[in-house]
Amino acid sequence: MNNFYINGRNIEYDKKYIAPARINLIGEHIDYNGGCVFPACVNLYISAYVKKRDDNKIILESQGYKTTIETTLDKLDYNDNLFWGVYPIGVLYIIKKLGYKIKTGLEIYYESKIPSGSGLSSSAAILVVTTFLISDIFNLNISLLDIIKITKMVENDYCKLKSGIMDQSIIALGKRNKGLLLNCDNLDYQYKNIKINGYSIVVLKTNKPRKLTESKYNERVDECNKALSILKLIYKINNLCDLKSKDLDNVKNILNDEVLYRRVKHVITENERVYEFAKSLEEGNISEIARLLNESHESLRKDYEVTGIHLDSIVDSAISSGAIGARMTGAGFGGCAIALVKNDILDDFKKNLIKKYKEKTNITPDVIPVIFVDGVKIEE
Ligand code: GLA
Repeated sequence: MNNFYINGRNIEYDKKYIAPARINLIGEHIDYNGGCVFPACVNLYISAYVKKRDDNKIILESQGYKTTIETTLDKLDYNDNLFWGVYPIGVLYIIKKLGYKIKTGLEIYYESKIPSGSGLSSSAAILVVTTFLISDIFNLNISLLDIIKITKMVENDYCKLKSGIMDQSIIALGKRNKGLLLNCDNLDYQYKNIKINGYSIVVLKTNKPRKLTESKYNERVDECNKALSILKLIYKINNLCDLKSKDLDNVKNILNDEVLYRRVKHVITENERVYEFAKSLEEGNISEIARLLNESHESLRKDYEVTGIHLDSIVDSAISSGAIGARMTGAGFGGCAIALVKNDILDDFKKNLIKKYKEKTNITPDVIPVIFVDGVKIEE
């Protein structure tokens, strides 16, 4: 048995597990359109300290939310009073439903340094770490690919969110210093070295709460599905990402709808940017990488319309403070952006960006240079 003291309490645990936050380097709003995304894990973590119990009680505590959620293994149904506990309880519910044997109750103490509601996937991190630890502590041998599928079922079926598969995939599969080129249609993936010699990726947190995220996210998913159903009448395709930019003129005529056309234009061009980005990284072509980041943001701003004043202001402030490329990351409507910045100007960059963004929005942003780390694991 291990232990540690926090807020005057003694927390006892058998094992500790950690899962990181993720950023998406490029390929935004692509996962639910069957294309390729390029995320990576970054060094902000959620830790989960676990102890098996002798009875069938489930006791979940969160250092951040300062609430305890208590239930039993036979009372895991969804209810409105679960708060943040909806994720771990949802995991237990789905794992049990799939027929895995959870032999005893558990106590889990969560401590998170991943800001919630900031677009860094704190929810996917708690889902993945919980599924991983249950598999490990009860010897269920659930593969990483099945962890990805289970956590997606929890989000879609238990929490009723229409999210894609990118976030849980990278948090499960992430590797140190690598990005994950993930085909969201068939879950094939390759690791690519993140070679940006002399430069850093900096996370820029707008500190604007993402109120619109869920409703607008679902609206975009619905728009894409609508466009797909029209285009399927003409093209033999399964996903919007099966189309290429050479098809765009034709797509415009078929859709005959300005908004739907712009949504599809973003999806097709962004999917192509992902491949170009992966190639540029391999070649260490920094100026190409920067160009693609900037183009991606423009496309999300003008065509997909998921950025908003705060993300646009932080990206503009980043560029005018010396970043050579910057874009929003994640769902959008607030949350975070990322910027590519030369290491030897990092201090000035930070000072100038904070000043400029604050002038525009009256909010102080957080500026966090990150490194790329492994996905979920046991912390020895
Ligand atoms: C959120 C969703 C992901 C993905 C991104 C946009 O993070 O959870 O599945 O759709 O938005 O790229």
